[in-house]
Amino acid sequence: MIYLDSAATTFQKPSAVEAAMVEALRTMSSPGRGGYPAALAAADAAFDCRNALAELYGLKNPEQVVFTANATHALNIAIKTLVSPGGRVAISGYEHNAVTRPLAALEADVRIAEAPLFQPEAVLESFASLVDGGLEAVICTHVSNVFGFIQPVEAIAALCRTWGVPLIIDDSQAAGVLPLDMAELGAAFIAMPGHKGLYGPQGTGVLLCGSGIQPRTLLEGGTGSLSIQQEMPDFLPDRLEAGTHNMPGIAGLLAGVRYVRRQGMEGICRRERQLTQMAAEELRVLPGVTVYAQPDLHAQTGVLSFTAEGREVEALGQALGERGIAVRAGLHCAPLAHRSAGTLGSGTVRISFSDFNTPEEVSRMVSVVREILS
Ligand code: ALA
Repeated sequence: MIYLDSAATTFQKPSAVEAAMVEALRTMSSPGRGGYPAALAAADAAFDCRNALAELYGLKNPEQVVFTANATHALNIAIKTLVSPGGRVAISGYEHNAVTRPLAALEADVRIAEAPLFQPEAVLESFASLVDGGLEAVICTHVSNVFGFIQPVEAIAALCRTWGVPLIIDDSQAAGVLPLDMAELGAAFIAMPGHKGLYGPQGTGVLLCGSGIQPRTLLEGGTGSLSIQQEMPDFLPDRLEAGTHNMPGIAGLLAGVRYVRRQGMEGICRRERQLTQMAAEELRVLPGVTVYAQPDLHAQTGVLSFTAEGREVEALGQALGERGIAVRAGLHCAPLAHRSAGTLGSGTVRISFSDFNTPEEVSRMVSVVREILS
């Protein structure tokens, strides 16, 4: 199989990830639950993982790094901390259902920063027209999961600081690919999965919490701390980490983050963009194919959507799958992004890269698309 669906999850993991998970099963129990070697080994791994993530995002205090089950879980905590029922928020036009569905559940008054695809200046202008002191939060994905569109989160963060509005960044498609300095941004929360560009296993996610914010709990339960007290601890990470930790997951995530640091985000991003550029150039010349990319990949990472005239995207995705090419087709849980890009009616076929893909795989994918279309 040629795996080109890393925007869903990076299926190929560094071998150190698998080894760390097996080692965790053999040697770790639960952090904070005892002073015996297996509990201490778990506590060490959890601490090391928090520390590695804190360093990656410019945080001094690793206690601001909270483990969650996935990015959706992390985003739900962030959104439900800041947004009250009916509260007013501004979001980008490229948000995932992990943002829009919690807001719908809150019946929030959602203002959308409308902007065409691959026009970061228009995104910023649109946010500038919406942001004022009456907003409860601004929520923005760093990179669109459908189009790889990089949004200008640094400039949006500056706007939020000017107005004193808390910012939530969904870093799902950017973690491990594009750097962010949370302290510099002054963001309230940054949410991400562990299983995409950080190369951890599924079932891992991370919420980075800005200092001075008391997050709302979604789950209450045992934390191994303040056990006599019936309210959840008011300190992090315990406040948000009720129940037994996913230690094989956390140990795997630590190995994944270490892989990213060894490879370097700049190199990973450059290689993924080269493959994207190659795929865009070769797909673009096929008859009837529309590729969603600007020629110089302006504001785009290693995610690429395309459509083919007269073909259902799902059927195309299925045909690719049957020929050994794994892609995702449809709306990618992000109807708002498709609405913004004008592809809501058709959906798209999405290919997305990781550090494990090669130019040969891109060539093979393009020749299979050509074969299917002819
Ligand atoms: N949000 C993930 C995707 O884009 C699951 O496929």
